[in-house]
Amino acid sequence: MTTAYAQGNVNYGVIGAGLQGSTHISIASLAPNATLMAVCDLNEETARAAALKHGARHVFTDWHDLLALDEIEAVSIALPDHLHREVTVAALEAGKHVLLEKPMATSVEDAEAMVEAWKTAGTKLMINWSNRWMPPFASTKEKLTSGALGDPLYCYARLNNTTYVPTQMLSWAAQTRLPYWLICHRYDIARWYFGCEAKKITAVSRSVVLKEMGIDTPDFYQVTVEFEGGQVGNFESCWILPESLPYMVDSKFQLVCTKGYVNVDPNPAVHQLATEERYSHEGFLSNNIMGQPVGFVRCAIEHFINCCVTGSEPMITGDDGLQITRALVAMVEAAETGEAVYL
Ligand SMILES: NC(=O)c1ccc[n+]([C@@H]2O[C@H](COP(=O)([O-])OP(=O)(O)OC[C@H]3O[C@@H](n4cnc5c(N)ncnc54)[C@H](O)[C@@H]3O)[C@@H](O)[C@H]2O)c1
Repeated sequence: MTTAYAQGNVNYGVIGAGLQGSTHISIASLAPNATLMAVCDLNEETARAAALKHGARHVFTDWHDLLALDEIEAVSIALPDHLHREVTVAALEAGKHVLLEKPMATSVEDAEAMVEAWKTAGTKLMINWSNRWMPPFASTKEKLTSGALGDPLYCYARLNNTTYVPTQMLSWAAQTRLPYWLICHRYDIARWYFGCEAKKITAVSRSVVLKEMGIDTPDFYQVTVEFEGGQVGNFESCWILPESLPYMVDSKFQLVCTKGYVNVDPNPAVHQLATEERYSHEGFLSNNIMGQPVGFVRCAIEHFINCCVTGSEPMITGDDGLQITRALVAMVEAAETGEAVYL
């Protein structure tokens, strides 16, 4: 999947230069219709190294300073899940277009505050549920729209990580929950396919493995969502798979329709890499070619940049973010209380 670049230019800043933010920095610097102006991270060394590598003129450790630069028209925000509200509201109030990393928020109040700021500002707000740009998910949407599959009835979605993610990759795992970290990707896809909102949510979670390691967040969630149109989504996610697995992501998605079936299973796609130290399965869907990021994350960020340049509405707006946040918060609540949540 490739992206055509809309003509024009947007001056760009990136707040948060960690794992995901560094991808935004790289992609914004490569886009011919964006100029990467500034990078901000609490860790000055991280911000400075990224700015130097990708040609950004300004380096900040305080995002207020980046937002105070009038020449910056759009920002990516890639801070930990629970820190999205304050900076997003401030960026919108400063008149910037905002590409906010998923999840939008970890509370409905936070998402509502961002939507209010967005509607007042009149700028763009996109939430980066980038999996919509993965080829199997994008082409399934096209088949649904054409009617080739009939109507979608139910889906099964699994998205798991190894323990590497909550124990080593993320310093803030205890501040989030799997519905915000992983399930949200597949919930966004299901909602996009079904074309309606969640009506009833039941969920179960358990805390055993990570709790013993002193990380206060559940190991897994099993969630059933009944949608307004009668469709059903089953979502499961864990982040306690053994690190000995060759790839840190385990994923499967099945969609049953009145006239068809879709099975998205990356497992048969094999790209094994073995060195003397390590054996791994390399990613197929998003990767680097000659040092440049390619794939769905690049497509999603370029979509946002194009929207800033042309003035068109991004595919996933603040309104989508608020609806999805309501469902994700309900999943966490249903698992904690053992009661169904009706939306
Ligand atoms: N779309 C996707 O597929 C995808 C993939 C991974 C992560 N994410 C999301 O991206 C966001 C960032 O995740 P990550 O994996 O990059 O986390 P990370 O921990 O690697 O990076 C977060 C960065 O934010 C910086 N930071 C924290 N507080 C700050 C502040 N107040 N001001 C400036 N910088 C600050 C940290 O120093 C760190 O460098 C999360 O919301 C996560 O869920 C999305």
